[in-house]
Amino acid sequence: MTRISCPVLATKVTSAEHAASFIDDGDNVAMSGFTGAGYPKSVPTALAHRIRAAHDRGERFSIGLLTGASTGAEVDGVLAEAEGIHLRTPFQSDPVLRRQINDGAVDYIDTHLSHLAQQVWFGFYGTMNVAVIEVAAILPNGLLVPSSSVGNNKTWLDLADKVIIEVNSWQPRAYEGFHDVYYGTRRPPLRTPVQITEATQRIGDPYLKVDPAKVVAVVETHAPDRDNVFSPVDAASKAMADHILDFLRFEVKAGRLPENLLPLQSGVGNVANAVLAGLEESEFEHLTAYTEVIQDEMLRLLESGRFDAISATSLSLTREMAEYFNANIEAFKGRILFRTQEMSNHPEIVRRLGVIAINGMVEADIYGHVNSTNVLGSQMINGIGGSGDFARNAYLNFFVSPSVAKRGAISAIVPMASHVDHTEHDVHVLVTEQGIADLRGLAPVKRARKIIENCAHPDYRDRLLDYLERAQAQANGRLHMPHLLDEALSWHSAFAKTGHM
Ligand code: COA
Repeated sequence: MTRISCPVLATKVTSAEHAASFIDDGDNVAMSGFTGAGYPKSVPTALAHRIRAAHDRGERFSIGLLTGASTGAEVDGVLAEAEGIHLRTPFQSDPVLRRQINDGAVDYIDTHLSHLAQQVWFGFYGTMNVAVIEVAAILPNGLLVPSSSVGNNKTWLDLADKVIIEVNSWQPRAYEGFHDVYYGTRRPPLRTPVQITEATQRIGDPYLKVDPAKVVAVVETHAPDRDNVFSPVDAASKAMADHILDFLRFEVKAGRLPENLLPLQSGVGNVANAVLAGLEESEFEHLTAYTEVIQDEMLRLLESGRFDAISATSLSLTREMAEYFNANIEAFKGRILFRTQEMSNHPEIVRRLGVIAINGMVEADIYGHVNSTNVLGSQMINGIGGSGDFARNAYLNFFVSPSVAKRGAISAIVPMASHVDHTEHDVHVLVTEQGIADLRGLAPVKRARKIIENCAHPDYRDRLLDYLERAQAQANGRLHMPHLLDEALSWHSAFAKTGHM
């Protein structure tokens, strides 16, 4: 049965190839998609063909691509392979695109995920020429039922000159009622408080709106979201999860957290997923999440009853779990709310609810600056994502990583971080499989001792202590945050030269 019940929009049904013909060289194209969910499945491939054909004729053709967060091979992958992207924001995780970014072929603007929509409203990115948005259905009155992510779709539909809608029948029609699209945001100085005081409180509409006059094409698809594969939980991840759970127990005992904790946020990546797996074995109950993505483990926790309710902007599931969710979607209704990413990651709400934020990191330095994005200070992995939105405004934040990478050749604890996403002012607790460093209330040198003693791998611990002590000695016990400037990044340059820190 057709998912397109609106007579006006039904007249716009066409092929992906025809839809892609509305996109021109140099356009800013805003697409749906967040962490591999809800991205358009067919128009980007048709666009990639169009771009290749133009290149074959010796013509220039590339777009600026704006999304919610990462997409799938059918968006970032095909467009990058066609060399069709000149600018990308706010987040990506595609291997081909990552290579082009690190080769200097694509301009990548790595942005806090809650910031992009408002920055586009402020005019920082110029005109949005075309929006390509996946939905689960179009209602008779033209309202759109969102699919497995909301991301920035509201903003893209509001601001784009032309709109292409993909209606994906792989996404359950029963998504209707799962979303909360807030239409109350105004530009300063007219902005008003966002009235969310509980994680899954509704403040918006269940539907996305679009001006039918702007819709140039509607394309029908039937294709799955990306298969988000996680590594199995290993001993190191299990140890990190145990450290965090023990810490939370201690905080409850000390009266600093309620027994059912506060709303949790868990970031992308294997380690964050493993931490959630640890909660299943714990005694914590009636948990809630105010988070960005719902991963497999979080959905399991909801199903098993550990979690009462989850607010997010997107799913981020393995194919197996996505099929399970789609087949059993009614059982999750009323317990999951998908918001726009402006709201799911909103600093005001994160601060008000007192979110506990758990995010992965690449490295941390002895004073607690955290690098989440750039290997050796210069090579982009994915992007900052929502980690800054949550961490800076959280009641309590954790940054987690194995203490070594690349079979021990790299220490995750270094004298000076080679790139900083989260400053020493923002970071509360560091966690590796070695242990946990509670940095709250500690001045820099005390922080450094704790991080080295509790989190560094034994193979690197003495060298880090030696660095700290020599830095202090050189400063004659003075200086707020002593460093040896000639040595501070020498661990990174040693790795670049010899393959070992
Ligand atoms: N130097 C070099 N490489 C490093 C490294 C370091 N210090 N630390 C980790 N890596 C590499 C790992 O070796 C691995 O590479 P591989 O895929 O080639 O094996 C890769 O980075 C991922 O590391 P892993 O240990 O599997 O961790 P992860 O899957 O938990 O990802 C981040 C860690 C930091 C990449 C990930 O959390 C991230 O992208 N964070 C930023 C965005 C974010 O936090 N979003 C949260 C809001 S939802």
